[in-house]
Amino acid sequence: MKLSLAAGDLTHQKCDLLLLPVFESDLKDAQKPAPPVVALDQALRGLVLRVAAEEKFKGGADQALMLQTHDRAQATRVLLLGLGARQKFEPEVLRLAAGRGIKAARKVGAATLVLALPEARDLTANVKAAAEGLLLGEYKFDRYKTAEKDQPAREVRQASLLLPAKTAKSRELAEALELAQVVSEATNWARDLVNEPPNQLTPSALGEHARQIAREGRLKVEVLDRARIEKLRMGLFSAVAQGSSAPPVLVHLWYQPPAARHAGKKPVVFVGKAITFDSGGLSLKPTDSMVEMKTDMAGAAAVLGAMKVVARLKPPFPVHAYLGACENMPGGRAYRPGDVLVSRLGKTVEVTNTDAEGRLVLGDVLTWANELEPAVMVDLATLTGACMVALGHNLTGVFGADDAAVWEVLEAAKSAGEDMWRLPISEHQRDSLKSEIADMKNTGERWGGAISAALFLKEYVGETPWVHLDIAGPATSPKERGYLAKGATGVGVRTLTELVRARAGTGS
Ligand code: BES
Ligand code: MN
Ligand code: ZN
Repeated sequence: MKLSLAAGDLTHQKCDLLLLPVFESDLKDAQKPAPPVVALDQALRGLVLRVAAEEKFKGGADQALMLQTHDRAQATRVLLLGLGARQKFEPEVLRLAAGRGIKAARKVGAATLVLALPEARDLTANVKAAAEGLLLGEYKFDRYKTAEKDQPAREVRQASLLLPAKTAKSRELAEALELAQVVSEATNWARDLVNEPPNQLTPSALGEHARQIAREGRLKVEVLDRARIEKLRMGLFSAVAQGSSAPPVLVHLWYQPPAARHAGKKPVVFVGKAITFDSGGLSLKPTDSMVEMKTDMAGAAAVLGAMKVVARLKPPFPVHAYLGACENMPGGRAYRPGDVLVSRLGKTVEVTNTDAEGRLVLGDVLTWANELEPAVMVDLATLTGACMVALGHNLTGVFGADDAAVWEVLEAAKSAGEDMWRLPISEHQRDSLKSEIADMKNTGERWGGAISAALFLKEYVGETPWVHLDIAGPATSPKERGYLAKGATGVGVRTLTELVRARAGTGS
């Protein structure tokens, strides 16, 4: 889909579908609707307001109303998209509406569309959000559908964002549009990785993807094999990997700015959980919980997606990404409940549940990443079902003892339109990880499972400002919603991007 900015009259936009986002207040006062609604209503000889009233379309945030224009406007169809209350507006509302809009465009087979940007405070943010909503909403994963390939493609070829009246194109708006395209492409790429089945996306395949990103974005990359992982004394990672016949890989992918620009600057570090399939190991998962476990590398996908963006942003500081990729399988060499492992840090861990594998791999990888002395370290992991129970499918759980770092991530998430919620990393619960025979167990009691997991990770990050994002819930969406498709969401790419932008002084 080609995306551009346009200026001009709403009723003179020639296209298959005109998307018109409206606030509740734009329609509420029948005597004085908003100017774009009035313009369209006049062109359609009163049909817009009449049908809206008849169909009880009030501009609510989940409402939509489709009309044919029968040549009374240049667009063939108009779709009114509800934005809800104007006072509650934020760009994310527009992002969701744009996503619904493009899905509707597909259903009616529209090849060209125009989205009329609403009049709202921050036009730049709205351009970015609308573009992202369209591009993310366009996403589908049909690589393995053989029948659908024969059908004519129902794709929107050309979309423009129509600026509100009395606003002009500017360099700033063009840049916002371009950034939205880079970020959306990276997010959709991350979604593909997560949706890809586990027999295809093996640890080695993940390593190849990292290499590819490095080639395309002129980043540096190292992909280490099992022998090197053992040589790094990563006893936790090695143990998790040993139950599978698929070899593990340890990925280090990084961006290094020209020396003059980063003199003395400590790196930003991202770590992603990269379990390409989590069977639970010998603590085997029941079928129903196992079927989703190809998505257990969503943290890695987000980190790689973000690195694609970083390669384009070229911030004035280094950015490093680390992934410990392996399968968690119950093969003959599998690690056992009862095993005691020695981590890279030297601490010993008694395995009480082989299904708590993510924290083990991350423990070693965080230790290694931490040796760079990061300015800030953020990990993303589909770590616990408990976090999903607590926060559901929309919210990421945010953990960390460093308030400033946590706030920085929460601010970035807010600006990205990704919902996150801080949860306490309560030291009280550390007791539950005490082992009789080793320094720690890998699981505590059932209650507060997301906190125990975060406390486990905390052992490996020293004094570094560190933030742990538990994305078990938001990594996937159980249904189509706004710009989300059912399945992988690519959550995290946008927040990490905003974090880097804010640090580079180019954020909003
Ligand atoms: N990958 C899972 C967590 C998960 C669950 C992600 C559901 C996405 C959706 C993780 O490795 C796991 O199995 N966690 C266990 C931990 C328990 C054994 C302490 C869990 O949450 O049940
Ligand atoms: Mn598990
Ligand atoms: Zn897992």
